[in-house]
Amino acid sequence: MQITSFKQYEEDYKKSIENPEQFWGEVAQNFQWRKPWFKVLSWNFNEPNIKWFEGAKLNITENCLDRHLEKNGDKPAIIWEPNNPEEESVTLTYKMLHERVCRFANILKRNGAKKGDRICIYMPMVPELAIAVLACARIGAVHSVIFGGFSAKSIADRINDSRCKLVITADGAYRGNKQIPLKDVIDDALIGCPTVEKCIVLTHIRTPVSMLKGRDVWWEDEVKHVNDICEAEEMDAEDMLFILYTSGSTGKPKGVVHTCGGYMVYAGYTFSNVFNYQPGEVYFCTADIGWITGHSYIVYGPLSQGATSVLFEGIPTYPSPSRFWDIVEKHKVNTLYTAPTAIRSLMSFGDEPLKEKDLSTIRVLGSVGEPINEEAWHWFDEKIGHGKAPIVDTWWQTETGGIMISPIATVTPTKPSYATLPLPGIQPVLVDENGNEIEGNGVSGNLCIKFPWPGMLRTTYGDHERCKQTYFSAYENLYFTGDGCLRDEDGYYRITGRVDDVLNVSGHRIGTAEVENAINMHAGVVESAVVGYPHDVKGQGIYAFVIYPEMHGEAELSKKDILQTVTRVIGAIAKPDKILFVSGLPKTRSGKIMRRILRKIAEGDTSNLGDTSTLLDPAVVEEIMDAAQKL
Ligand code: WTA
Repeated sequence: MQITSFKQYEEDYKKSIENPEQFWGEVAQNFQWRKPWFKVLSWNFNEPNIKWFEGAKLNITENCLDRHLEKNGDKPAIIWEPNNPEEESVTLTYKMLHERVCRFANILKRNGAKKGDRICIYMPMVPELAIAVLACARIGAVHSVIFGGFSAKSIADRINDSRCKLVITADGAYRGNKQIPLKDVIDDALIGCPTVEKCIVLTHIRTPVSMLKGRDVWWEDEVKHVNDICEAEEMDAEDMLFILYTSGSTGKPKGVVHTCGGYMVYAGYTFSNVFNYQPGEVYFCTADIGWITGHSYIVYGPLSQGATSVLFEGIPTYPSPSRFWDIVEKHKVNTLYTAPTAIRSLMSFGDEPLKEKDLSTIRVLGSVGEPINEEAWHWFDEKIGHGKAPIVDTWWQTETGGIMISPIATVTPTKPSYATLPLPGIQPVLVDENGNEIEGNGVSGNLCIKFPWPGMLRTTYGDHERCKQTYFSAYENLYFTGDGCLRDEDGYYRITGRVDDVLNVSGHRIGTAEVENAINMHAGVVESAVVGYPHDVKGQGIYAFVIYPEMHGEAELSKKDILQTVTRVIGAIAKPDKILFVSGLPKTRSGKIMRRILRKIAEGDTSNLGDTSTLLDPAVVEEIMDAAQKL
């Protein structure tokens, strides 16, 4: 299943387009199924209705764990690197991981979980997080992992949307020199979550927490009551595997649904190929399991291929900006997969943190989550890869389940700031505003995909119509990604960023409407408009224009209040970088905010604001421009 030459890539690509069912049927043979499929694919993009490997039965954990036991049981599956480098790292072999997953699966059952139940996971980056995820999959429960940076309200909304029955959390998390009281946050969230019956709590930072009688149990206590035998639940290929909430252009995040069979095949296939993973190598993805990158490329992709996956609890700059390089040296990392925002941040510390670090084990580098600028690309290439490690700039989304457009390490060419070529099975098209396909090279447009792939989302939880409207209605018979894209003279793809109202802040997806809703919850705020602007480290920063007529006291204090409100409503990741108080917003006569103008002002480029004559009150633009200059 591994592509080893450019010629083979071309052949596989051709075959995958001419005969997708045969192509994916063959790829799927590399996985373990309890029962084969009777049909590889049935689909239509109108409803949408997408089924891969229909009739097949499997359990993804048998592919990620059981099937490796005989030959590779003593091979490290997970190497855990704690936040504090003084603490010991932990290695779990496939045997150990299998045993712990089975034990925890039995704990889930003991606490009433069964196939189909939704389970919310809110945990630090510790091995138990991967164990919890896999244990859900083992018993056929649907996990919904929520990133540790989200607030109680965000958690409650997500728990209620999918009616979770159980929550798995920890007393707290370490993040650099900070401690985050996860259980406290969960306690606040659960006040408004009537469907949750049980909460399993892992001891991690040993901070005191309150345990609610009848609802809360300790992970450590529960372990004493179970054994390590847990037969995997037989799942249909199209049974739900997980829900992952992500932001869109409306205020409410949606639960992207992935299913067992197709997701497994796609995550495994893309992992093996894009990173050109070789047996015995150590692979380190710096993402958090709270995001799709962690799901597909820390847990399911690598483990399905019997790889060794490093799971890092901390942050790149703690205790110093050498941390990533220390980890590379310590664990002899061969592949490093990280985000442009981390690269830019580390780059800003200069060469000092790299001194005397042995990075010679690095063979492949990867980037994900946002466009990587050329400067960061070259720094990564020269300083970290020493010009010898191909950089795979991987473009994909929560909705795509796995990497879509990317170089294949050591096989296909790389090009700074380009995601380059589509992987086999992926048929990208560029369309203009009217939905007409733009053919040829040296063109740009909105990026769509015209044929299904196994890892694609099947629905948005509890609201299929929303899935249809968001992804399949903008252009007929196409999946719309929300990204703008350039295809250069050589046919290489370069993603230029979102064309909808979604921001990408440090690689985190945040909807402008979500941030506006949060700001508007502040008592003094009448209205707000949020746009993105270029930010040196974060890629995009959040700029909020806020109408706050009766401000008492200093503006700085009101800003602080607003930031706190956003932190409470969404989480610290959505805090605006800049807040500008204004007396009005540029609106059309029909009341629509003209974001185009606000974006220009936020970027500091007011030379050409375009036509403002259609505005209700053109004078407001002058006023905002003046105020912005003083900010
Ligand atoms: C952006 C993350 C440019 C893009 C896996 C996409 C990228 C959104 C790249 C999805 C890349 C992701 N180059 N842009 N290599 N990778 N993006 O759902 O705008 O968190 O639509 O998935 O990130 O973000 P998500």
